This record gives sequence, C-alpha cells and structure tokens, in this order.
Amino acid sequence: MQLVTTIQEVRDIVKQWKKEDLTVGFVPTMGYLHEGHASLMKEARKRDDKVVVSVFVNPMQFGPSEDLDSYPRDINADSKLCEEMGVDLIFHPEPSEMYHDDFCSFTDINGLSNHLCGLSRPIHFRGVCTVLNKLFNIVMPDRAYFGQKDAQQAAIVKQFVKDLNLPLEIVRCPIIREADGLAKSSRNTYLSAEERKAALILSKAIFLGQELVEKGETSAKKVTDQMTDLIKTEPLADIEYVTAVNGLTMEEVDEIKDPTLVAIAVRIGKTRLIDNFVVEK
Ligand code: PAJ
Repeated sequence: MQLVTTIQEVRDIVKQWKKEDLTVGFVPTMGYLHEGHASLMKEARKRDDKVVVSVFVNPMQFGPSEDLDSYPRDINADSKLCEEMGVDLIFHPEPSEMYHDDFCSFTDINGLSNHLCGLSRPIHFRGVCTVLNKLFNIVMPDRAYFGQKDAQQAAIVKQFVKDLNLPLEIVRCPIIREADGLAKSSRNTYLSAEERKAALILSKAIFLGQELVEKGETSAKKVTDQMTDLIKTEPLADIEYVTAVNGLTMEEVDEIKDPTLVAIAVRIGKTRLIDNFVVEK
C-alpha cells in the first residue's frame, strides 16, 4: 500500500493502472476510520481491481461554528486499517494541495440540499459536492462507495454525478452499527461515557420506527411522532429533526412507502448525531 499527499502522485499511479486495464474503486473519507468506512473498502475490494481511499478533513464543508479544528485525526491508525483492508493507495493531501489561494469554483446542488441536514448546515453540501468533484477528477474511479449512514449525502452525490455526466458509478452500502445499535461515526469519540449511553436513544428510535412500519403503519406523522416521543424521554437529547422524506427528492411525505427515508438528527450534549432507515418494499 502506498500513501501519497500530492495530486500528481495519484494521477501517475492511477494512469499506470488504467494502462493495465484495471478498474479503480474509490472510498472518500475524512479519516478517523472505523468499521463503517472499512465496510466500504471491503465492498470496493470485492468489486474493483484497485482500491483508493482519500483521508481529507475538508474545510469547505464545515460551517464557521462547526467542529473543523476538533475533528479527530489519526493518519497512523487510518493507514493500519487501510493496510488490513487491502487498500492499494491512500491519498492524504494538505488543505493547501486541494485549495489554492485563488480557488473560486464550486459544485452546488439545488433542491435536494434544502432539506434535512442542509437546513442547519447551509454550506455543507456545496463543500461536499465540490471536494468530491475534485477528488473524482483526481482519482478517476470507475466506482465510488458511500454509506447509507449519510443518506442525504449519498442521494446528492448520485444526483450530481448523473447531472454532470461524471463517468463513474455510485455504490451505496448499509449502515454499520456498534453491538448496542449506535451507528458508527468518527464523531462518537466526542461523547462522554454518560452521553454515549444517552446516544443509544437514536438507534432505539430508528428501530422503533422500523418496527412500526414493518407492522404496517404507513402514516409518516404517526411513525415520526412516536419516534419523537421516545427521543424526548432522554434528557440529554436535543432533537434537530425527525422526519420522513422521499428517498430520491428529500421532500417530506405524509405516507410511508417505497422509497421513503426516515431520518433523524439529534444533539447529545454538543455532539450532533444522525441516523436513518429506508423503507424498501
Ligand atoms: P466521513 O464522515 O469520513 O464518511 C466517509 C464515508 O463513510 C461516507 O460515505 C459515510 O456515509 C461512510 N460511513 C460513515 N459511517 C458509516 C457507518 N456507520 N456505516 C456505513 N458507512 C459509514 O462523509 C464524509 O466523510 C465526507 O462528507 C466526504 C464524503 C469524505 C467528503 O468530504
């Protein structure tokens, strides 16, 4: 496995692979890797000849009052996990390698980003789309792998890849959870022991919602109201949203049917956590 920090090195390596007719799978990340990220690498390893992982905490997708500076970083541990997962190349650039002083071009998306997380994080998805567009142009993958944990992000990426005719396939992979149900996230490291316990209310609410839908409930209001009531029983939880949306357009729906996304964002102390389930029949 190689670890490189410059765009030119990635281009040179990938160019050689393409000459050999090898396919390239790409897993973009912000590092502090866990089993959720590893599941994407595993899928890429299965489907593609070569696997590239980027580790880059992208300043452009953080708002001014968000956690850019405190976002956890550990490139040594990340390299170890990538090595174990059979990754071929890690791209770990400095912000100055990705954004020159005169940088002024953006990739943005309308509509899909004006819901869910986009409401409280107005510049977030512009930052995500811009960095991914750049990374796709640098790595030139045949496939890029995204987790359903960030369902809105995955839907937005799929749309912009389609709209801009980017020559790659977006593969979505299921949410990986801790043994007790909490969705794995680099941000879980912010939680104190007490908050870690309280954070379980997210997955409990997701499982409750899933159970109601499995039993035949189709009213979005009834499902989200019960999930909300459950979350409110946890004193450390502060709800940002509990909502049911169309899984493609991200617009709120009244009736739960395929492809509805039931998504939640909840603050536990200062840590903002998200979780979701998709109704596919
Ligand atoms: P990051 O939060 O590091 O996540 C990288 C990828 O891992 C995303 O596709 C995310 O959905 C997936 N992932 C995270 N936790 C997961 C879990 N518990 N189960 C399954 N997949 C999981 O998302 C980003 O970075 C950034 O926005 C990025 C796309 C890299 C652009 O900067």
